[in-house]
Amino acid sequence: MAENQKILFIDDLPGVGPATAEKLREAGFDSIEEIAIASPAELAAATEMGENTASKIINAARKAADIGNFERGETLLERRKSIEKITTGSKALDELIGGGIETQSITEVYGEFGCGKTQLVHQLCVNTQLLKEEGGLNGSVIMIDTENTFRPERISQMATSLKLDANDVLKNIYVARAYNSNHQILLMDKAIDLAKEIKDTDKPARLLIVDSLTAHFRSEYVGRGTLADRQQKLNKYMHNLLQFGNLYNAAILVTNQVMSKPDTFFGDPTRPIGGHIVGHTATFRIYIRKSKGDKRIARLVDSPSLPEGEVVFRITPEGITDE
Ligand SMILES: Nc1ncnc2c1ncn2[C@@H]1O[C@H](COP(=O)(O)OP(=O)(O)OP(=O)(O)O)[C@@H](O)[C@H]1O
Ligand SMILES: [Mg+2]
Repeated sequence: MAENQKILFIDDLPGVGPATAEKLREAGFDSIEEIAIASPAELAAATEMGENTASKIINAARKAADIGNFERGETLLERRKSIEKITTGSKALDELIGGGIETQSITEVYGEFGCGKTQLVHQLCVNTQLLKEEGGLNGSVIMIDTENTFRPERISQMATSLKLDANDVLKNIYVARAYNSNHQILLMDKAIDLAKEIKDTDKPARLLIVDSLTAHFRSEYVGRGTLADRQQKLNKYMHNLLQFGNLYNAAILVTNQVMSKPDTFFGDPTRPIGGHIVGHTATFRIYIRKSKGDKRIARLVDSPSLPEGEVVFRITPEGITDE
């Protein structure tokens, strides 16, 4: 994808009105890329439009996405090779997720209140700025804070314990407060502008955080009738996050709360908000539970390439550490 291109929504394509956009999404064509790679017959069948109209829309999507032609496996391997990792501060936790939080992927951290999601977020704001040989990416961090829980003082505390200059570290963390879900969505555009602006500096954006991904959506979309709408918006948002990750070779970290599932008779009666929509787009899902004192248990859930497992880490005044 061209780097100077703004992400477009499918509603922005010429010939796609709200009703068509709705049908396309229902059929799973929820991003420009997906439409760009569809066949006219597929699109026509999904939306009851003519194949001519469908090919016009597909052509527009191809231009907008600028996805070019097929890529050789070799090129894909090359891109995979550019994936980098950021340490969480705990070796055990890093190992669980394959070496740290990965770029070009979404990592979702979920768990009940006080389990340490925001603490992990703070730690990664600091660790992203470490040199590569220290487990960082020597880059900046962009954070969308929906719950007003970002604390510069906590960053200072963690930075100092890593022997970093706290002011330097704070300089390279860009925080925006999101007041509602629409604002949260709009801030993605700002994040892209900002990432573009600092791309060629010595501290390009290498981590994008949304803490919390779902809180606004959860409180604003109440009741059964609004669920489909909420899921659709979340789905689109997740895809935009992923595009950001690919565009800037950045890691994406989102937090999510759990809700209790009263119909569960066996196992853990909680599940993350947003369900399979969030789950399918996130590459790594980490479930955190409280344990004794400052100990926490992290579990890797549903990973296609890594074994499921659990590790213990701690939240100390110095930050996230091993047990
Ligand atoms: N300076 C500190 N030193 C040690 N532990 C701390 C410090 N600050 C916070 N903690 C620990 O982190 C916990 C809070 O975790 P955190 O705010 O990350 O939870 P959360 O998962 O984000 O919750 P929520 O769902 O409410 O956002 C505190 O209860 C405490 O145990
Ligand atoms: Mg929190």
